[in-house]
Amino acid sequence: MSGANRFVPTLRTGQAHPHPAPIGGDAYSAVELMPGYRLVILDQRKLPLQERYEFVSRVDEVADAIRNMLVRGAPAIGITAAYGLVVAAYAARGDAPSFLEAMSAADALLRASRPTAVNLAWALDQMKPVVANAANLPFVQRTEALAQAASGLHRAEVAACRMLGAHGLTLVPDGATILTHCNAGALATGGYGTALGIVRAAHEARKNIRVIACETRPYLQGARLTAWELHKDRIPVEVISDSMVAHFMAKKAIDLVVVGADRIARNGDVANKIGTYGIACIAAAHGVPLYVAAPWSTVDLKCSSGEDIPIEERPERELSHLPLADGNQLQLVPDGVGARNPSFDVTPARLVAAIVTERGLARPAGEASLANLRNG
Ligand code: MRU
Repeated sequence: MSGANRFVPTLRTGQAHPHPAPIGGDAYSAVELMPGYRLVILDQRKLPLQERYEFVSRVDEVADAIRNMLVRGAPAIGITAAYGLVVAAYAARGDAPSFLEAMSAADALLRASRPTAVNLAWALDQMKPVVANAANLPFVQRTEALAQAASGLHRAEVAACRMLGAHGLTLVPDGATILTHCNAGALATGGYGTALGIVRAAHEARKNIRVIACETRPYLQGARLTAWELHKDRIPVEVISDSMVAHFMAKKAIDLVVVGADRIARNGDVANKIGTYGIACIAAAHGVPLYVAAPWSTVDLKCSSGEDIPIEERPERELSHLPLADGNQLQLVPDGVGARNPSFDVTPARLVAAIVTERGLARPAGEASLANLRNG
């Protein structure tokens, strides 16, 4: 049999979720804590061809799952890190000092797994007092205390998405075509989504919207993930290559851009998936508003501007080779030629029409409007 004929992808989407009651609330979810303090993670690298869930019961496996992008998206990796501490607590059966030592090592491991999305460090910071208070409890109670806190954090992040979706609804005209980049949906947040939360809210409000998803080279989160989850929810979506954005803007085919964020600096600068800055420049040139949707956990008031945000460089191979469904890779770049692979870029606040959070809108994006939201 020839090599070409051997490639028959197995379509296994629609597999039943192994968790009895996912917090995400959908038929699928990025991450959940299982009874027995194991995590179940939807392996997003396999989408859209396979909906495959992996079980993880060691904290180093949780860190690997984040680093290797089984789970990705700023809020989702924060939630996963919080659950990672639960897994670590279940493995740490010693007295209070040895528990605290194990938890500190787990925190450091998880914190180092990806650098740009501040939600990861934010979630671990939220868990710190819970860990300290639980240290003197008996083993069963302390593990359960962490499990309750991490599940609570997960629930609150999903609720924030629903709330920001309701705020963002006001920005979406009936009949709008919305451009989005990367995946800022249920897969990236543990449920509902940020940019796609606004899309879902508009769809639920029966606004006649449609979505254009950039494929999002090199990791193809738009083509593989955004298209998958919107199609599942029967929200009209088409995929374009990243290089087609200017063409469709010039044709007046896009009414607004809505993207997520990995970190928002105090002055309103936004780090998001590589390519967002280019889209923002094109949108500004065509008078199309660009909105950023993110829970407050993505705002990092300690970063004064985008200059302070660390940008992750992913392996060259993610750009130079395309993974195939049969486990092989298609080489795209000649042997001996290097590749660059920054995973995020920074869009300056002046190109962002508004930042949509669960606290309301920061409009225009900037230090003053964010300070207003912070002060409630
Ligand atoms: O590298 P990824 O897939 O983790 O990047 C994700 C993004 O850039 C998202 O747009 C961002 O995290 C917002 S998710 C609600």
